[in-house]
Amino acid sequence: MQQRRDLILVATAALALAVFAAFGAAARAQTAAPADAPPTAAQTAKPSDYGVTPAIRPNDDPVDKGAFIYKQRCAVCHARAADGKTEYGPHLAGIFGRKAATTGWDGHTRQFKAMDTVWNDAALDALLTDPQAAAPGIKMDVVVRFKRSREALIAYLKTL
Ligand code: HEC
Repeated sequence: MQQRRDLILVATAALALAVFAAFGAAARAQTAAPADAPPTAAQTAKPSDYGVTPAIRPNDDPVDKGAFIYKQRCAVCHARAADGKTEYGPHLAGIFGRKAATTGWDGHTRQFKAMDTVWNDAALDALLTDPQAAAPGIKMDVVVRFKRSREALIAYLKTL
């Protein structure tokens, strides 16, 4: 008799476990995305200088990405328009193809004024990769670490 009751108890417990497991699986199936769903922005985004944001996605136009990075990391020191001014740096209107330090901004360092650079892709990439290596002694020390971020920024700078 005792044995039989034990058996019933064990069977009931096993049944309860099975029901729990089944409910759990059903609940998980409901919340999981279907296998063929396109990846979300968070899943495809890579680390970059603008971080992972819902507003900017990896496949966006480089100019848009560049504008975003510029706003975050450059605008505090660089105005975009020739008549714009900040205390901290020269404006960058028409920067692409222009000779370094020729906007008339009066805060330039001696080192920077002595540069013979005309801003093209390679020169801008070098400046943004390592400003102090590109022009030792300059006041700017903002490093844009990721190549794709520099490419986006340069694409944007070409539009100014
Ligand atoms: C903290 C202020 C500051 C920030 C932020 C900054 N810069 Fe600069 N930048 C300067 C200064 C100052 C100079 C001039 C350096 C000198 O004369 O020594 C300069 C020079 C430049 C030049 C050359 C300008 C010319 O007329 O030849 C470019 C291009 C440039 N910066 C791009 C950028 C970009 C792109 C960013 C954003 C990723 C950026 N800078 C962020 C301060 C800054």
